[in-house]
Amino acid sequence: MPQPKVLIVDDEKLVRWSLRQKCEEWGYQALEAADASTALSLVRDEQPEVVLLDVRLPDQSGLDVLEKLKQTGDARAVIMITADPQLDDVKAAIKMGAYDFIGKPLDFDELQVTLQNAIEATRLRSEVESLRGEVRKRAGFHDIIGVSRKMTELMHFVRKVAASEATTILIQGESGTGKDLIAKAIHYQSARQDRPFVPINVSAIPETLLESELFGHERGAFTDAKAMKKGLFEVADGGTLFLDEIGELTPFLQAKLLRVLEDQVIRRVGGVRDIQVDVRVIAASNRDLERAVREGHFRQDLYYRLAIISIFIPPLRERREDILPLVDFFIEHYNRKFRKSVRGITAETRRLLLNYDWPGNVRELKNAIERAMILEDEPVLRPDYLPFSVRQPHTGVTAFEHTASPPAGGQPLPSGRWLPPLSIPEGGTSLEEIERAMVELALRQSGGNQTHAARLLDISRDALRYKMKKFGLMHSEEEKEEQPSPQPGP
Ligand SMILES: Nc1ncnc2c1ncn2[C@@H]1O[C@H](COP(=O)(O)OP(=O)(O)O)[C@@H](O)[C@H]1O
Ligand SMILES: [Mg+2]
Repeated sequence: MPQPKVLIVDDEKLVRWSLRQKCEEWGYQALEAADASTALSLVRDEQPEVVLLDVRLPDQSGLDVLEKLKQTGDARAVIMITADPQLDDVKAAIKMGAYDFIGKPLDFDELQVTLQNAIEATRLRSEVESLRGEVRKRAGFHDIIGVSRKMTELMHFVRKVAASEATTILIQGESGTGKDLIAKAIHYQSARQDRPFVPINVSAIPETLLESELFGHERGAFTDAKAMKKGLFEVADGGTLFLDEIGELTPFLQAKLLRVLEDQVIRRVGGVRDIQVDVRVIAASNRDLERAVREGHFRQDLYYRLAIISIFIPPLRERREDILPLVDFFIEHYNRKFRKSVRGITAETRRLLLNYDWPGNVRELKNAIERAMILEDEPVLRPDYLPFSVRQPHTGVTAFEHTASPPAGGQPLPSGRWLPPLSIPEGGTSLEEIERAMVELALRQSGGNQTHAARLLDISRDALRYKMKKFGLMHSEEEKEEQPSPQPGP
């Protein structure tokens, strides 16, 4: 995150100087303006998160500046500063949308907290706004492609759910099946669409942080809690909270979440007060939650609560009729994005796309089309630029399963594996030299692990050690048989 910017607007040099010292000490970037016109141009050019604005300025009143800031829409949070706070000024400023008011002489502790809150508020607001703007464009049901019976039935159900009063919804499906997409569509097609859609991946955050992220904390709840912080449940009030990878939630937070779902109240960490929230929770999981319950990793009562409305998105391989419509959709998408005019795919490409199992589901298909569109010069997508796995679907594990395509100039082997480009040097070579190079390479790739290296070459560990000795690749410590092979060769 970039350093937050604070613009200090005051005609007194000494005040600006001391505020700058403090702001920098608190980790902010300080900008200064001594008069209104400088302030306005700095706000426009630098977009500071917070403006500290003196009510009395030489050229204009601070209130006029506030009004202009509000009109141009550039104002984020404005904190007014005044030596003689007259109630009228304060009232007017707050009415005009000032974030807060602070009296002189300045109480720096108070200022620090106010600043921190203001910055947080600005950040949250702009995050939510950009998310909302970005998402709403693409989050209609019309952007969810599916002609298969499974998908049309599912979408019929999803529409109903979106329009309903349901406050908990569970979406399950393998990775890449469209869980995020459907969660967003549910929100933006619901009565909650003008309130925030707040996504959070619970597996990405450690438990203690996650708790205060979700529920907020009071000032002083723990060492770092210098100010009160609202949790995402409060941020999402009136809207939707999307809890991705719910299966990874720790038992403690599972219990806490259950309570929130049942009572629709939260309590901030370190707080004693219940806060009423109105949040629709959409939980998603790519793990089989029912099984997690059976195995004791997930609370049964929470599962039942979440699964009242349960949506299961089938993997793409179980609805192959959706593949070609999705391909058309993605081609159109990338035509726009890359300013290309690809018209379609060849018959062979179609056959390959339809036959492949798509373990990464729609995401994998989308990525495959993106890649082909980047590389293809013809107006139709030929198989040449499809990922290797799609072109060779039945070879099982390949030597290059992690790369998207075979190495250019490589050669297919009878095993279905792929040999990287090799050529014989002009003056010829010896087979033994090649063998030695391969042994060295295998050892390097396996980080010196002999068992692994032997497996890469499909020989026994003893055979590998024999070759290492022959080629002088054995270091003296390795001669001793101190590390027993976990999987002795044949
Ligand atoms: N039915 C669909 N129609 C159009 N695009 C889809 C569809 N399903 C998934 N996608 C796209 O595939 C990608 C992966 O979907 P996502 O919702 O992130 O999957 P998940 O959350 O289940 O892993 C996204 O780019 C999404 O837009
Ligand atoms: Mg997802």
